[in-house]
Amino acid sequence: MGEALATATPPDIYFNPWDENFRANPYPHYRPLLTGPLRIIDLGFKFALAARYADVRAILIDHATFSSVQPKGMGFDEQTKIFGDAPTMLGSDPPTQTRLRRLVSRDFTPRRIRDLEPRIRDIAKNLLDAAERKGEFDVMADLANPLPVMVISDLLGVPPEEYQQFKNWSDKIIEADNTLPGMPIPDEIKSAFTELRSYFVAEIARRRKNPGTDLVSALVAAHDESEALNADELLQFLVLLLLAGNETTTNLIGNGMLALGRNPESMAALRAKPDLMRGAVEEMLRYDGPVQATFRTATKDTVVGGTQISAGMGAFVIIAAANRDPAQFKDPEKFDVTREPNDQVAFGEGIHFCIGAPLARMEGSIAIGSALERFPHLRLKNPDAPVTYKGSYFLRGLSRLEMALK
Ligand code: HEM
Repeated sequence: MGEALATATPPDIYFNPWDENFRANPYPHYRPLLTGPLRIIDLGFKFALAARYADVRAILIDHATFSSVQPKGMGFDEQTKIFGDAPTMLGSDPPTQTRLRRLVSRDFTPRRIRDLEPRIRDIAKNLLDAAERKGEFDVMADLANPLPVMVISDLLGVPPEEYQQFKNWSDKIIEADNTLPGMPIPDEIKSAFTELRSYFVAEIARRRKNPGTDLVSALVAAHDESEALNADELLQFLVLLLLAGNETTTNLIGNGMLALGRNPESMAALRAKPDLMRGAVEEMLRYDGPVQATFRTATKDTVVGGTQISAGMGAFVIIAAANRDPAQFKDPEKFDVTREPNDQVAFGEGIHFCIGAPLARMEGSIAIGSALERFPHLRLKNPDAPVTYKGSYFLRGLSRLEMALK
Protein backbone atom coordinates (compact mmCIF):
# COMPACT_ATOMS: atom_id res chain seq x y z
CA MET A 1 0.00 0.00 0.00
CA GLY A 2 2.81 2.43 0.96
CA GLU A 3 4.46 2.00 -2.46
CA ALA A 4 1.22 2.22 -4.38
CA LEU A 5 0.41 5.43 -2.55
CA ALA A 6 3.84 6.90 -3.13
CA THR A 7 3.48 6.53 -6.89
CA ALA A 8 -0.05 7.91 -6.93
CA THR A 9 0.83 10.99 -4.88
CA PRO A 10 2.61 14.20 -5.95
CA PRO A 11 6.33 13.58 -5.27
CA ASP A 12 6.79 16.17 -2.51
CA ILE A 13 4.02 14.83 -0.28
CA TYR A 14 3.46 11.66 1.66
CA PHE A 15 -0.01 11.04 3.03
CA ASN A 16 -0.70 7.53 4.21
CA PRO A 17 -2.85 7.17 7.34
CA TRP A 18 -2.35 3.40 7.21
CA ASP A 19 1.41 3.65 7.71
CA GLU A 20 2.40 3.32 11.38
CA ASN A 21 5.31 5.75 11.00
CA PHE A 22 3.09 8.35 9.40
CA ARG A 23 0.61 7.95 12.25
CA ALA A 24 3.33 8.27 14.90
CA ASN A 25 4.04 11.83 13.73
CA PRO A 26 1.91 13.12 10.86
CA TYR A 27 2.78 16.79 11.48
CA PRO A 28 5.93 17.07 9.27
CA HIS A 29 3.88 15.51 6.45
CA TYR A 30 1.29 18.28 6.76
CA ARG A 31 3.80 21.09 6.15
CA PRO A 32 4.06 20.73 2.35
CA LEU A 33 0.25 20.64 2.21
CA LEU A 34 0.08 24.09 3.78
CA THR A 35 1.70 25.82 0.80
CA GLY A 36 0.77 25.93 -2.88
CA PRO A 37 -2.57 24.83 -4.30
CA LEU A 38 -4.72 22.22 -2.63
CA ARG A 39 -3.47 18.73 -3.60
CA ILE A 40 -5.31 15.73 -4.98
CA ILE A 41 -4.10 12.20 -4.18
CA ASP A 42 -5.14 8.83 -5.46
CA LEU A 43 -5.91 6.15 -2.86
CA GLY A 44 -7.58 3.96 -5.47
CA PHE A 45 -10.07 6.80 -5.53
CA LYS A 46 -9.25 10.50 -5.91
CA PHE A 47 -9.26 12.59 -2.75
CA ALA A 48 -8.67 16.27 -2.18
CA LEU A 49 -6.36 16.93 0.77
CA ALA A 50 -7.56 20.08 2.52
CA ALA A 51 -4.98 21.21 5.06
CA ARG A 52 -4.84 25.01 5.07
CA TYR A 53 -6.94 26.74 7.71
CA ALA A 54 -8.88 28.75 5.12
CA ASP A 55 -9.62 25.68 2.95
CA VAL A 56 -10.63 23.50 5.91
CA ARG A 57 -13.07 26.14 7.17
CA ALA A 58 -14.44 26.80 3.69
CA ILE A 59 -15.26 23.09 3.24
CA LEU A 60 -16.73 22.53 6.70
CA ILE A 61 -18.95 25.60 6.49
CA ASP A 62 -20.31 24.75 3.04
CA HIS A 63 -22.36 21.65 3.87
CA ALA A 64 -24.40 22.03 0.66
CA THR A 65 -21.30 21.53 -1.53
CA PHE A 66 -19.53 19.12 0.84
CA SER A 67 -21.77 16.34 2.10
CA SER A 68 -21.17 14.30 5.27
CA VAL A 69 -22.95 11.25 3.85
CA GLN A 70 -20.41 8.54 3.06
CA PRO A 71 -20.79 7.63 -0.60
CA LYS A 72 -21.06 3.99 -1.68
CA GLY A 73 -18.25 2.44 -3.69
CA MET A 74 -15.43 4.56 -2.30
CA GLY A 75 -13.82 1.69 -0.47
CA PHE A 76 -15.28 2.46 2.96
CA ASP A 77 -18.48 0.44 2.47
CA GLU A 78 -17.53 -2.27 4.94
CA GLN A 79 -16.85 0.33 7.62
CA THR A 80 -20.14 2.10 6.92
CA LYS A 81 -22.17 -1.12 6.77
CA ILE A 82 -20.94 -2.26 10.15
CA PHE A 83 -22.82 0.66 11.70
CA GLY A 84 -26.06 -0.33 10.00
CA ASP A 85 -27.88 1.73 7.43
CA ALA A 86 -29.61 4.27 9.66
CA PRO A 87 -28.13 7.77 9.50
CA THR A 88 -26.27 9.40 12.38
CA MET A 89 -26.09 13.17 12.76
CA LEU A 90 -22.36 12.98 12.06
CA GLY A 91 -22.91 11.12 8.79
CA SER A 92 -25.92 13.00 7.45
CA ASP A 93 -26.86 16.36 5.92
CA PRO A 94 -29.85 18.60 6.61
CA PRO A 95 -32.73 18.00 7.06
CA THR A 96 -31.87 14.63 8.71
CA GLN A 97 -28.89 16.04 10.63
CA THR A 98 -30.99 18.99 11.84
CA ARG A 99 -33.73 16.67 13.13
CA LEU A 100 -31.32 14.33 14.90
CA ARG A 101 -29.19 17.08 16.41
CA ARG A 102 -32.21 18.91 17.76
CA LEU A 103 -33.14 15.83 19.82
CA VAL A 104 -30.03 16.06 21.99
CA SER A 105 -28.92 19.68 21.73
CA ARG A 106 -30.68 20.58 25.00
CA ASP A 107 -28.67 17.96 26.85
CA PHE A 108 -25.33 19.42 25.80
CA THR A 109 -25.74 23.13 26.49
CA PRO A 110 -22.98 24.71 28.60
CA ARG A 111 -25.47 25.16 31.45
CA ARG A 112 -26.49 21.47 31.45
CA ILE A 113 -22.85 20.51 31.33
CA ARG A 114 -22.00 22.75 34.29
CA ASP A 115 -24.41 20.64 36.36
CA LEU A 116 -22.12 17.67 35.76
CA GLU A 117 -19.07 19.43 37.21
CA PRO A 118 -19.26 18.05 40.78
CA ARG A 119 -19.64 14.50 39.48
CA ILE A 120 -16.67 14.89 37.11
CA ARG A 121 -14.52 16.30 39.94
CA ASP A 122 -15.52 13.34 42.08
CA ILE A 123 -14.58 10.82 39.39
CA ALA A 124 -11.20 12.56 38.84
CA LYS A 125 -10.52 12.61 42.58
CA ASN A 126 -11.24 8.90 43.00
CA LEU A 127 -9.05 7.97 40.04
CA LEU A 128 -6.15 10.11 41.32
CA ASP A 129 -6.56 8.64 44.84
CA ALA A 130 -6.07 5.20 43.34
CA ALA A 131 -2.94 6.30 41.42
CA GLU A 132 -1.52 7.90 44.57
CA ARG A 133 -2.06 4.68 46.54
CA LYS A 134 -0.23 2.73 43.84
CA GLY A 135 2.58 5.30 43.75
CA GLU A 136 2.61 5.03 39.96
CA PHE A 137 0.77 6.98 37.31
CA ASP A 138 0.06 5.89 33.76
CA VAL A 139 -2.00 8.87 32.61
CA MET A 140 -3.87 6.75 30.07
CA ALA A 141 -4.81 3.72 32.19
CA ASP A 142 -5.29 5.60 35.44
CA LEU A 143 -7.09 8.77 34.33
CA ALA A 144 -7.61 9.46 30.61
CA ASN A 145 -9.22 6.11 29.70
CA PRO A 146 -11.65 5.68 32.60
CA LEU A 147 -12.80 9.28 33.21
CA PRO A 148 -14.65 10.04 29.93
CA VAL A 149 -16.24 6.58 29.72
CA MET A 150 -17.51 6.98 33.27
CA VAL A 151 -18.94 10.43 32.50
CA ILE A 152 -20.66 9.41 29.28
CA SER A 153 -22.01 6.23 30.87
CA ASP A 154 -23.45 8.39 33.67
CA LEU A 155 -25.08 10.61 31.08
CA LEU A 156 -26.54 7.58 29.31
CA GLY A 157 -27.60 6.07 32.64
CA VAL A 158 -25.46 2.94 32.31
CA PRO A 159 -24.65 1.04 35.54
CA PRO A 160 -21.09 1.61 36.83
CA GLU A 161 -20.11 -2.05 36.58
CA GLU A 162 -20.47 -1.85 32.78
CA TYR A 163 -17.76 0.85 32.28
CA GLN A 164 -14.96 -1.53 31.42
CA GLN A 165 -17.05 -3.56 29.01
CA PHE A 166 -18.11 -0.35 27.30
CA LYS A 167 -14.53 0.79 26.96
CA ASN A 168 -13.49 -2.55 25.45
CA TRP A 169 -16.21 -2.40 22.82
CA SER A 170 -15.49 1.20 21.98
CA ASP A 171 -11.72 0.53 21.63
CA LYS A 172 -12.36 -2.36 19.26
CA ILE A 173 -14.81 -0.43 17.09
CA ILE A 174 -12.43 2.50 16.77
CA GLU A 175 -9.77 0.09 15.47
CA ALA A 176 -11.94 -0.36 12.37
CA ASP A 177 -10.38 2.92 11.17
CA ASN A 178 -7.22 1.05 10.58
CA THR A 179 -8.68 -1.29 8.04
CA LEU A 180 -7.55 -0.30 4.55
CA PRO A 181 -10.36 0.98 2.34
CA GLY A 182 -12.10 -1.94 0.67
CA MET A 183 -10.59 -4.60 2.98
CA PRO A 184 -12.80 -6.77 5.19
CA ILE A 185 -13.23 -5.68 8.81
CA PRO A 186 -11.68 -8.23 11.23
CA ASP A 187 -14.24 -10.53 12.87
CA GLU A 188 -13.44 -9.43 16.43
CA ILE A 189 -14.30 -5.84 15.52
CA LYS A 190 -17.55 -6.97 13.94
CA SER A 191 -18.45 -8.93 17.06
CA ALA A 192 -17.66 -5.95 19.32
CA PHE A 193 -20.17 -3.94 17.33
CA THR A 194 -22.81 -6.67 17.42
CA GLU A 195 -22.40 -7.04 21.19
CA LEU A 196 -22.65 -3.29 21.76
CA ARG A 197 -25.77 -3.17 19.64
CA SER A 198 -27.40 -6.06 21.54
CA TYR A 199 -26.46 -4.38 24.79
CA PHE A 200 -28.27 -1.19 23.77
CA VAL A 201 -31.29 -3.15 22.49
CA ALA A 202 -31.65 -4.61 26.00
CA GLU A 203 -31.08 -1.19 27.64
CA ILE A 204 -33.77 0.37 25.46
CA ALA A 205 -36.26 -2.31 26.54
CA ARG A 206 -35.28 -1.73 30.18
CA ARG A 207 -35.78 2.08 29.96
CA ARG A 208 -39.08 1.61 28.21
CA LYS A 209 -40.32 -0.25 31.31
CA ASN A 210 -38.57 2.02 33.83
CA PRO A 211 -37.77 5.42 32.35
CA GLY A 212 -35.23 7.60 34.18
CA THR A 213 -33.86 11.12 33.76
CA ASP A 214 -30.98 9.92 31.59
CA LEU A 215 -30.35 10.53 27.91
CA VAL A 216 -31.26 6.98 26.81
CA SER A 217 -34.70 7.36 28.41
CA ALA A 218 -35.15 10.75 26.69
CA LEU A 219 -34.24 9.27 23.31
CA VAL A 220 -36.50 6.26 23.86
CA ALA A 221 -39.35 8.71 24.56
CA ALA A 222 -38.51 10.63 21.35
CA HIS A 223 -38.86 7.34 19.50
CA ASP A 224 -42.00 6.11 21.22
CA GLU A 225 -44.01 9.29 21.63
CA SER A 226 -43.31 11.48 18.65
CA GLU A 227 -41.62 9.02 16.33
CA ALA A 228 -38.92 11.66 15.92
CA LEU A 229 -36.45 8.79 15.82
CA ASN A 230 -36.91 5.35 14.26
CA ALA A 231 -35.66 2.21 16.01
CA ASP A 232 -32.39 1.94 14.03
CA GLU A 233 -31.67 5.63 14.40
CA LEU A 234 -32.13 5.32 18.13
CA LEU A 235 -29.51 2.58 18.27
CA GLN A 236 -27.11 4.51 16.07
CA PHE A 237 -27.54 7.56 18.26
CA LEU A 238 -26.46 5.70 21.36
CA VAL A 239 -23.49 4.14 19.64
CA LEU A 240 -22.40 7.53 18.24
CA LEU A 241 -22.67 9.25 21.62
CA LEU A 242 -20.68 6.55 23.29
CA LEU A 243 -17.92 6.45 20.68
CA ALA A 244 -17.69 10.20 19.99
CA GLY A 245 -17.70 11.14 23.64
CA ASN A 246 -15.19 8.61 24.79
CA GLU A 247 -11.99 8.18 22.86
CA THR A 248 -11.79 11.85 21.84
CA THR A 249 -11.80 13.19 25.39
CA THR A 250 -9.42 10.43 26.51
CA ASN A 251 -6.99 11.68 23.90
CA LEU A 252 -7.40 15.33 24.83
CA ILE A 253 -6.26 14.40 28.34
CA GLY A 254 -3.42 12.14 27.12
CA ASN A 255 -2.10 14.38 24.33
CA GLY A 256 -2.47 17.42 26.59
CA MET A 257 -0.49 15.84 29.44
CA LEU A 258 2.23 14.78 27.00
CA ALA A 259 2.52 18.36 25.70
CA LEU A 260 2.78 19.64 29.29
CA GLY A 261 5.33 16.95 30.18
CA ARG A 262 7.47 17.95 27.20
CA ASN A 263 7.13 21.65 28.06
CA PRO A 264 7.81 21.78 31.81
CA GLU A 265 7.83 25.61 31.76
CA SER A 266 4.18 25.52 30.61
CA MET A 267 3.33 23.08 33.39
CA ALA A 268 5.00 25.42 35.90
CA ALA A 269 3.08 28.40 34.48
CA LEU A 270 -0.22 26.51 34.88
CA ARG A 271 0.58 25.57 38.46
CA ALA A 272 1.42 29.16 39.28
CA LYS A 273 -1.72 30.47 37.57
CA PRO A 274 -4.54 27.89 37.40
CA ASP A 275 -6.62 30.54 35.57
CA LEU A 276 -4.55 29.75 32.50
CA MET A 277 -6.22 26.33 32.27
CA ARG A 278 -9.03 27.45 29.99
CA GLY A 279 -6.61 28.76 27.36
CA ALA A 280 -4.26 25.83 27.94
CA VAL A 281 -6.98 23.34 26.96
CA GLU A 282 -7.59 25.32 23.74
CA GLU A 283 -3.86 25.11 23.02
CA MET A 284 -3.80 21.35 23.69
CA LEU A 285 -6.67 20.97 21.22
CA ARG A 286 -4.82 23.07 18.64
CA TYR A 287 -1.34 21.65 19.10
CA ASP A 288 -2.09 17.92 19.11
CA GLY A 289 -5.82 17.46 18.70
CA PRO A 290 -7.62 14.15 19.27
CA VAL A 291 -9.32 14.26 15.85
CA GLN A 292 -6.80 14.62 13.04
CA ALA A 293 -9.17 14.69 10.11
CA THR A 294 -12.72 14.29 8.96
CA PHE A 295 -14.23 13.45 5.63
CA ARG A 296 -16.61 15.02 3.11
CA THR A 297 -17.79 14.34 -0.47
CA ALA A 298 -18.28 17.06 -3.10
CA THR A 299 -21.88 17.22 -4.31
CA LYS A 300 -20.99 19.40 -7.31
CA ASP A 301 -17.99 20.70 -9.19
CA THR A 302 -16.27 23.39 -7.19
CA VAL A 303 -12.93 25.12 -6.58
CA VAL A 304 -11.16 25.18 -3.22
CA GLY A 305 -7.71 26.67 -2.62
CA GLY A 306 -7.21 27.16 -6.34
CA THR A 307 -7.90 23.49 -7.18
CA GLN A 308 -10.80 22.11 -9.16
CA ILE A 309 -12.72 19.47 -7.18
CA SER A 310 -15.20 17.43 -9.19
CA ALA A 311 -18.62 16.25 -8.05
CA GLY A 312 -18.30 12.92 -6.23
CA MET A 313 -14.67 13.44 -5.18
CA GLY A 314 -13.83 12.78 -1.53
CA ALA A 315 -12.10 15.33 0.69
CA PHE A 316 -9.81 14.59 3.62
CA VAL A 317 -10.34 17.64 5.79
CA ILE A 318 -7.22 17.68 7.94
CA ILE A 319 -8.21 19.83 10.90
CA ALA A 320 -4.98 19.04 12.78
CA ALA A 321 -2.99 20.46 9.85
CA ALA A 322 -5.17 23.60 9.75
CA ASN A 323 -4.40 24.05 13.44
CA ARG A 324 -0.71 24.38 12.55
CA ASP A 325 -1.13 26.69 9.57
CA PRO A 326 1.36 29.58 9.87
CA ALA A 327 -1.06 31.77 7.92
CA GLN A 328 -3.41 31.55 10.93
CA PHE A 329 -1.18 30.89 13.95
CA LYS A 330 2.07 32.61 14.90
CA ASP A 331 4.83 30.03 15.61
CA PRO A 332 2.36 27.17 15.02
CA GLU A 333 4.84 24.47 16.07
CA LYS A 334 5.25 26.06 19.48
CA PHE A 335 3.08 24.87 22.39
CA ASP A 336 2.03 28.08 24.14
CA VAL A 337 -0.58 27.90 26.90
CA THR A 338 -0.95 31.71 26.79
CA ARG A 339 -1.67 31.82 23.03
CA GLU A 340 -4.18 34.54 22.22
CA PRO A 341 -6.16 34.55 19.98
CA ASN A 342 -6.57 30.83 19.41
CA ASP A 343 -9.30 30.03 16.90
CA GLN A 344 -8.46 26.35 16.69
CA VAL A 345 -10.78 24.07 14.68
CA ALA A 346 -10.28 20.84 16.69
CA PHE A 347 -14.05 20.55 17.22
CA GLY A 348 -14.81 21.17 13.55
CA GLU A 349 -16.85 24.05 12.21
CA GLY A 350 -20.31 24.74 10.80
CA ILE A 351 -23.44 22.64 11.38
CA HIS A 352 -21.52 19.56 12.60
CA PHE A 353 -19.49 21.51 15.16
CA CYS A 354 -18.92 19.08 18.03
CA ILE A 355 -21.99 18.92 20.21
CA GLY A 356 -19.87 17.59 23.08
CA ALA A 357 -17.36 20.49 23.05
CA PRO A 358 -18.51 22.05 26.37
CA LEU A 359 -18.37 18.63 28.03
CA ALA A 360 -14.96 17.75 26.58
CA ARG A 361 -13.50 21.12 27.62
CA MET A 362 -14.77 20.67 31.15
CA GLU A 363 -13.53 17.07 31.47
CA GLY A 364 -10.12 18.02 30.05
CA SER A 365 -9.59 20.94 32.38
CA ILE A 366 -10.84 19.08 35.47
CA ALA A 367 -8.76 15.97 34.75
CA ILE A 368 -5.53 17.82 34.01
CA GLY A 369 -6.07 20.54 36.62
CA SER A 370 -6.77 17.95 39.34
CA ALA A 371 -3.65 15.93 38.43
CA LEU A 372 -1.41 19.03 38.61
CA GLU A 373 -2.93 20.03 41.93
CA ARG A 374 -2.61 16.57 43.42
CA PHE A 375 0.96 15.83 42.29
CA PRO A 376 3.23 18.88 42.70
CA HIS A 377 6.25 17.07 41.20
CA LEU A 378 4.47 15.50 38.25
CA ARG A 379 6.79 14.98 35.25
CA LEU A 380 7.40 12.55 32.41
CA LYS A 381 8.99 9.38 33.72
CA ASN A 382 11.17 8.87 30.63
CA PRO A 383 11.30 12.21 28.82
CA ASP A 384 13.49 10.86 26.03
CA ALA A 385 11.70 7.56 25.45
CA PRO A 386 9.54 7.43 22.31
CA VAL A 387 5.81 7.30 22.97
CA THR A 388 3.49 4.80 21.32
CA TYR A 389 0.21 5.63 19.67
CA LYS A 390 -2.93 3.53 19.39
CA GLY A 391 -4.05 2.24 16.03
CA SER A 392 -6.24 5.01 14.62
CA TYR A 393 -4.99 7.91 12.48
CA PHE A 394 -8.30 9.79 12.66
CA LEU A 395 -8.43 9.59 16.46
CA ARG A 396 -4.91 10.31 17.67
CA GLY A 397 -4.02 9.04 21.12
CA LEU A 398 -1.32 7.36 23.21
CA SER A 399 -1.42 3.76 24.41
CA ARG A 400 0.43 4.64 27.64
CA LEU A 401 1.99 7.70 29.24
CA GLU A 402 3.96 7.09 32.39
CA MET A 403 4.59 10.03 34.66
CA ALA A 404 6.64 10.23 37.86
CA LEU A 405 4.85 11.51 40.96
CA LYS A 406 7.89 12.41 43.10
C1 HEM B 1 -11.78 16.68 22.93
C2 HEM B 1 -12.82 15.94 22.65
C3 HEM B 1 -13.56 16.00 21.34
C4 HEM B 1 -13.12 16.37 20.10
C5 HEM B 1 -11.73 16.84 19.69
C6 HEM B 1 -14.26 16.23 19.20
C7 HEM B 1 -14.21 16.53 17.85
C8 HEM B 1 -15.30 16.54 17.02
C9 HEM B 1 -15.29 16.99 15.65
C10 HEM B 1 -14.05 17.45 14.88
C11 HEM B 1 -16.55 16.88 15.16
C12 HEM B 1 -17.03 17.27 13.78
C13 HEM B 1 -16.80 16.17 12.78
C14 HEM B 1 -17.22 16.55 11.39
O1 HEM B 1 -17.61 17.70 11.12
O2 HEM B 1 -17.13 15.68 10.51
C15 HEM B 1 -17.37 16.35 16.24
C16 HEM B 1 -18.72 16.07 16.13
C17 HEM B 1 -19.43 15.45 17.11
N1 HEM B 1 -19.03 15.19 18.41
FE1 HEM B 1 -17.23 15.59 19.18
N2 HEM B 1 -15.33 15.78 19.91
C18 HEM B 1 -14.97 15.64 21.23
C19 HEM B 1 -15.78 15.23 22.27
C20 HEM B 1 -17.09 14.87 22.16
C21 HEM B 1 -17.96 14.48 23.24
C22 HEM B 1 -17.57 14.47 24.71
C23 HEM B 1 -19.17 14.15 22.69
C24 HEM B 1 -20.45 13.64 23.32
C25 HEM B 1 -20.65 13.33 24.51
C26 HEM B 1 -19.07 14.36 21.27
C27 HEM B 1 -20.09 14.14 20.37
C28 HEM B 1 -20.07 14.56 19.06
C29 HEM B 1 -21.19 14.38 18.15
C30 HEM B 1 -22.52 13.72 18.47
C31 HEM B 1 -20.79 14.95 16.94
C32 HEM B 1 -21.62 15.05 15.65
C33 HEM B 1 -22.30 16.40 15.59
C34 HEM B 1 -23.04 16.61 14.29
O3 HEM B 1 -22.74 15.92 13.32
O4 HEM B 1 -23.91 17.49 14.26
N3 HEM B 1 -17.81 14.80 20.99
N4 HEM B 1 -16.59 16.17 17.36
